[in-house]
Amino acid sequence: MNIVVIGAGYVGLTAACCLANAGHRVTCIENNESKLKLLNQGISPIQEKGIDQLLKQGLASGKLSFVSSLPKPIETDTVIMITVGTPSLPSGAADLSSIYQVAAELKNAIQYPLILIMKSTVPPGTGVKLVQRYFENTPISYVANPEFLREERAIEDWYHPSRIVIGAADNKIAEKVRQLYSDIDAPVIITDITSAETIKYAANAFLVTKISFINEIANLCETMSANIDDVAKGIGLDTRIGPDFLRAGLGYGGSCFPKDARALDFAALNKGYDLRLLKVTIEVNTKQRILAVHKLKQLLGGLAGKEIALLGLAFKPDTDDIRESPSIDIAYLLYEEGAKLRVYDPTAMQNARPLLPSEVTFATDIYSATVGANAIILVTEWQEFIHADWQTIKKQMNQPYLILDGRNALAQDKLMALGFKYVGVGRRL
Ligand code: UGA
Repeated sequence: MNIVVIGAGYVGLTAACCLANAGHRVTCIENNESKLKLLNQGISPIQEKGIDQLLKQGLASGKLSFVSSLPKPIETDTVIMITVGTPSLPSGAADLSSIYQVAAELKNAIQYPLILIMKSTVPPGTGVKLVQRYFENTPISYVANPEFLREERAIEDWYHPSRIVIGAADNKIAEKVRQLYSDIDAPVIITDITSAETIKYAANAFLVTKISFINEIANLCETMSANIDDVAKGIGLDTRIGPDFLRAGLGYGGSCFPKDARALDFAALNKGYDLRLLKVTIEVNTKQRILAVHKLKQLLGGLAGKEIALLGLAFKPDTDDIRESPSIDIAYLLYEEGAKLRVYDPTAMQNARPLLPSEVTFATDIYSATVGANAIILVTEWQEFIHADWQTIKKQMNQPYLILDGRNALAQDKLMALGFKYVGVGRRL
């Protein structure tokens, strides 16, 4: 099949590379000139495990190419896949301007039957609206086909998805889209467009609710002297609950969960329904960051003039993405309280630098970040932090040798035996 993928972010680029690898002829559109240049040289502008190899393979085979605008004319039997971003507007609503722009362009460019697949995350109801506004009486068949890829595991998730969701007004069209994934073994759900869109948002809403739930229980554990590690294990073994997404800590960040939670909340309110559970979930997530700073303040007897090492800026390990990362809010709160802040992250320093106050020191590794520190706050659970030489770190720190393990990732007993004052999130002391 001929496929045109519009947008080369982590979803678009993953889709383009994997579809080319499956033998389709894929043209991927990226309008950012510097990114386009890199892509054509076989260099991925995003950090994604396995992408470089697939990218080079695709270019070498001639199956994959990158251009800056829609090919003209678009060949017959082409499938168009939209993977542009839908960031948050200040109101919390999803910004669909890129989607509208692409829709307007396609409406004028297409003369014969063609399938248009929406992979971008768009609020329930968007597809039907787009069809009414742009594609009625055109030969375009619109399909909602949301993705469930995780950053840094996008390729693995592409080939081993928990499900494939296809929302279409016509079953024959849905079947054609299903063929795109013939190399993938996964349950397929075929439904209508709005239900497919809702599945995407409901999945993310459920996952963030699970995270905020376990964080609330962790906070409760602190007041009851219970241990969240045991509690999470104890409830996760119930197959109706499941063990995943029960890691208590500083809460969720990233380019998807926060904006999708806000967008669903907004879309529901716009239709007259108040998603109260989701609102509280968002509030708990924000509170979790603030609580961590309060904890540090209390344990240090104030933050002014205190030397604090902040470890981890990325919203999760193995990525350089700092979008909506708890690290940024926490760094600001500490800075405002007068703490002297040194930060370190294996890959996200460059991205974080413009977002942090100029007084923040960017260290070159975990050891230089922690010299003279009164306290460490671990924000991202990178393996290199977990396996650091904590004995050496302890020796070069100052009283009270405090570690606030914001991800419950470090070996509490070992650190306490080394003389650290260890505090986790809901971990019994
Ligand atoms: C998330 C979803 O996992 C994907 O299924 C979805 O496709 C994607 O959003 C999207 O909508 O595009 P991602 O943002 O890459 O993927 O991140 P996750 O690995 O799911 O983690 C998100 C955040 O939740 C991280 O900040 C992580 O630290 C936090 N988290 C996760 C917890 O605090 N506790 C947990 O138990 C799990």
